[in-house]
Amino acid sequence: MPTPFNWKFPTRNRSNGQRAKWAKSSVISTRSSTTRAFFPNLRRATSRRLSFRSTTSIALITGANKGVGLETARQLARDHGFTVLIGARDEARGQKAADELKAQGLNAQFLLLDPTDAASIERAAREVQEKFGHLDALINNAGALVPEDMALPAQVPTQALRDTYDLNVFAVHSVTQAFWALLEQSDAARLVNVSSAIGSLSLVRDFEGPVKDIKFIAYASSKAALNMLTVHYAWQWRDTRHKANAIHPGNVKTDANPNGEISVEEGARTSVELATIGEDGPNGTFSYLGQTLPW
Ligand SMILES: NC(=O)c1ccc[n+]([C@@H]2O[C@H](COP(=O)([O-])OP(=O)(O)OC[C@H]3O[C@@H](n4cnc5c(N)ncnc54)[C@H](OP(=O)(O)O)[C@@H]3O)[C@@H](O)[C@H]2O)c1
Repeated sequence: MPTPFNWKFPTRNRSNGQRAKWAKSSVISTRSSTTRAFFPNLRRATSRRLSFRSTTSIALITGANKGVGLETARQLARDHGFTVLIGARDEARGQKAADELKAQGLNAQFLLLDPTDAASIERAAREVQEKFGHLDALINNAGALVPEDMALPAQVPTQALRDTYDLNVFAVHSVTQAFWALLEQSDAARLVNVSSAIGSLSLVRDFEGPVKDIKFIAYASSKAALNMLTVHYAWQWRDTRHKANAIHPGNVKTDANPNGEISVEEGARTSVELATIGEDGPNGTFSYLGQTLPW
């Protein structure tokens, strides 16, 4: 039985995807000074923000207690000097993840945030407002697939779509809305929505293509909706220094995808890349490791 994640995105020369003009490498390793020498915009983006503020740049990652979210937080703190807010709905799990990063010498703080709970979102936004007064990067990473989605498309209960949309779509909008004003307090905000390649209508419509037998109607349509939200946020920021983009993390081995083929280290790279793009970076795109994906 395929899972929504259990497939490999085709290599560049076989794919429908195009190389993004702004992407200088298919794998942006943000770790080394060599990388920074080759990708000066990454450094410029961070240092520009730092130079305007006495505090470091602040990033909030939802669903950051594990998986791609936790690794995204780690890389943003370790490689880009962010103070990372570990958004998690469970206090014990979120605090443990923040402590893990702190033990590595990173600036991490737990932020209690259930993206499906309006009161929790409001409390979290107020806390960030009081502590920092701005937010430089929001990574809407929390997402899930419900077991009922494993049925054939027409047999999936409507409630499964509702439950999936609650987290993958409506929660993203609620969180983005609550933090919008804080993002606009940043010199150059970066909003990253963690989507999936199976949210691409073009890829899913290709009945002979790489995702030909991977049909999860609730999850895939929720990610397609998330892509559309992203384009709207990008439009709202079209004449500003802020940017909103959607990404596919890859077929990543996590609790949600035990058969994933790539590590969380690699799976976090696209979120990190889009969270740290410079002024010349894209707005309103969908990408994976520097490769533009079809909508
Ligand atoms: N792994 C892949 O191959 C892959 C491929 C494409 C896209 N993605 C996307 O990447 C993102 C991260 O996935 P992952 O693989 O890292 O998954 P993961 O390890 O299972 O982590 C998912 C995160 O989302 C949170 N979450 C799940 N259900 C929630 C709910 N109902 N309410 C609030 N928070 C909830 C989890 O919190 P708890 O620990 O409290 O449950 C956890 O922090 C998701 O948006 C996923 O759709 C993943």
